[in-house]
Amino acid sequence: MAAVTRTANLALISGSTRHGSTNTAVVLSLVELLGDTTRPVSYLDLAKLPHFNPDDDVEPLPAEVVRLRGIIAEADAVLFCTPEYAGDLPGSFKNLLDWTVGGMEIVDKPVGWINASSSPTGAEGAHRALRTVLGYTGAEIVEAACVRVPVPRAAVDPESGRITDPAVREGIGEAARTLIDAGLKRRDSVRDGEDGGEGQ
Ligand SMILES: Cc1cc2nc3c(=O)[nH]c(=O)nc-3n(C[C@H](O)[C@H](O)[C@H](O)COP(=O)(O)O)c2cc1C
Repeated sequence: MAAVTRTANLALISGSTRHGSTNTAVVLSLVELLGDTTRPVSYLDLAKLPHFNPDDDVEPLPAEVVRLRGIIAEADAVLFCTPEYAGDLPGSFKNLLDWTVGGMEIVDKPVGWINASSSPTGAEGAHRALRTVLGYTGAEIVEAACVRVPVPRAAVDPESGRITDPAVREGIGEAARTLIDAGLKRRDSVRDGEDGGEGQ
């Protein structure tokens, strides 16, 4: 019997709005790196999201919120990549995370992050906060896919906005593949649950 190739949907979300961002470089490089077995979908437009207001979290939702939630809903797993600002998450990225709460698409979704900080403190505060917020959203944090892969600005090609260093590319690829595996396992367990445990 021919082997069945399974394609995973991976959402890649950058927490930076900066031109030439190292975090966005991780996302763009992964889109290029992950081969035929992954459908990567990047979300780089957090600056287009309105300020979160519970009063606006009703139908009809703002179009950009619909787009963000749709990407998360379609994904088998979500990978975040964010800088640290003033010891915490950037406000615009926290705003994005706040919009994920009411939608529920992220509940039980395997999530991870690549911490691209090359600062001595390793953006610890931001990633501690990211863990806290993702806990509140109900996402399933895949510990093995929460890694630090420092990306110095010099490792980003200014033309393409992608990472050129082979070792860094290998590091981010490995983390993404760990998360993809978790996403596919979850897809199987949801399907088995829907089948009533049949089809072993
Ligand atoms: C307003 C501001 C505050 C920052 N605060 C921190 C910080 O608390 N800790 C840190 O490690 N880096 C801090 N940085 C540095 C950024 O995290 C760093 O430039 C990072 O590369 C930005 O990510 P990006 O390249 O994806 O935009 C700060 C930068 C700015 C502009």
